[in-house]
Amino acid sequence: MTWTKVCEKSDIPEGSIKKVWARIGGGIPIAVAHHKRGFVAIPPVCPHLEEPLEESGLVMGCKLTCTKHLWSWDLETLELQDEAELPLKTYDVKVEGSNIMVYVTEQLEYNFDEDEDIDENTFFDDDDDDDDEW
Ligand code: FES
Repeated sequence: MTWTKVCEKSDIPEGSIKKVWARIGGGIPIAVAHHKRGFVAIPPVCPHLEEPLEESGLVMGCKLTCTKHLWSWDLETLELQDEAELPLKTYDVKVEGSNIMVYVTEQLEYNFDEDEDIDENTFFDDDDDDDDEW
């Protein structure tokens, strides 16, 4: 794999995030965010609950916030902020002239574990046999 152009710099004004496609195989979806210090290329969904970041992502300064449940990341340092519990995965990105180039070797994805639901049948179980009769 190699560097591939995903869009023009002017397609993504500072303070915005946009879904683009790397033309590799059947196409690989990527979100490119333009923050205060440059560009970051990441999978197009929030690592929390798969929200499309093009719709729910808010870029302010160097910070990306998913407005769904307020997970945030510093896009310059990639540090987790606020409610975030998982890091962002990133592609290498560079600007060449007016082009945004992304280095793609494979599609980066998050694991969304669907078995984390609380078992509501046992959550309120009261094993306490203190049915005291007076
Ligand atoms: S889906 Fe993005 S913070 Fe929950």
